[in-house]
Amino acid sequence: MAIGAIGWFALGADGISVAFWTLLGASLLLGVTRVLPIGGGDMPVVIAFLNSLSGIAASMAGFAIDSSVLIISGALVGASGLILTNIMVKAMNRTLVEVLAGGFGVSDGAGGADVGDRTVRRTSADDLAIVLGYARSVIVVPGYGLAVAQAQHALRELADLLGDRDVDVRYAIHPVAGRMPGHMNVLLAEADVPYDRLYDLEDINADFSHTDVVLVVGANDVVNPSAREDPGSPIYGMPILDVDKAQTCVVVKRSLSPGFAGIDNPLFYKENTLMFFADAKGAIEDLVREVRQA
Ligand code: TAP
Repeated sequence: MAIGAIGWFALGADGISVAFWTLLGASLLLGVTRVLPIGGGDMPVVIAFLNSLSGIAASMAGFAIDSSVLIISGALVGASGLILTNIMVKAMNRTLVEVLAGGFGVSDGAGGADVGDRTVRRTSADDLAIVLGYARSVIVVPGYGLAVAQAQHALRELADLLGDRDVDVRYAIHPVAGRMPGHMNVLLAEADVPYDRLYDLEDINADFSHTDVVLVVGANDVVNPSAREDPGSPIYGMPILDVDKAQTCVVVKRSLSPGFAGIDNPLFYKENTLMFFADAKGAIEDLVREVRQA
């Protein structure tokens, strides 16, 4: 209907005509019905995509009114939006069509992974302070839960404390950790974490295998080994941070609940993984206290 109205409007209709109102109504209906069902976590992708379409539309308007400023600025917005959209969907190992179709990450309401007969090794702040006391290298992996808990300041304090004890502390940033591009970089910058301590996935992934402790704070999908090992997994092929290859991997989160992708994470049941079940902010603050006393 929208395409028909565009043709009608372009070919003959004059100004604000029936063709115009039909086009407006059809566009509104299409926009509302296509965008509303898209899940919360997919919104950044959709926003980037719509943003790029607005740039393309502005560029087209530039041709219509013969304005080179509008053509160039619209093309820049359109191209950068498309590049950003492409980076996001690639890092999520999905296609734009899948994102627009919605459905991914919608939980079935079960609320929590089925542990079955698998064993989870729990840890606490005082035990962890000892583990960290013996570590020479630590990599912190921040995720969406860090943002929710607003634990970035406590995390910086912990890193400073460990740094004072000659522990090499670095941060591994996955391109889609959190819920929007650059989410983790912004959070850590807000807490004055030095920029040269932040490493992109491709720059740090090889280092996990010779790291003493990895501290995963509120991250889940971006450290899920199923993406590497399980061809049947919906996230198979998505690049992940290889935290399971470290000597000890500590995961700070409140439960075994899945993350955005809604899938179980075998990392939680690995021999070298310790689960610290707590709100990220409270957990890191407790850890800071224990490390100070150690
Ligand atoms: P997620 O896989 O979403 O996992 C976040 C985890 O944080 C959850 O499992 C949750 O477990 C935990 N959490 C929540 N609140 C917490 C709190 N207060 N304290 C401690 N933990 C808490 O996050 P991720 O690893 O950062 O991955 C991001 C996901 O979002 C990816 O699937 C990605 O594809 C998707 N996504 C990202 C973007 C961009 S651009 N960043 C855009 C769209 C979609 P508990 O409930 O057990 O605590």
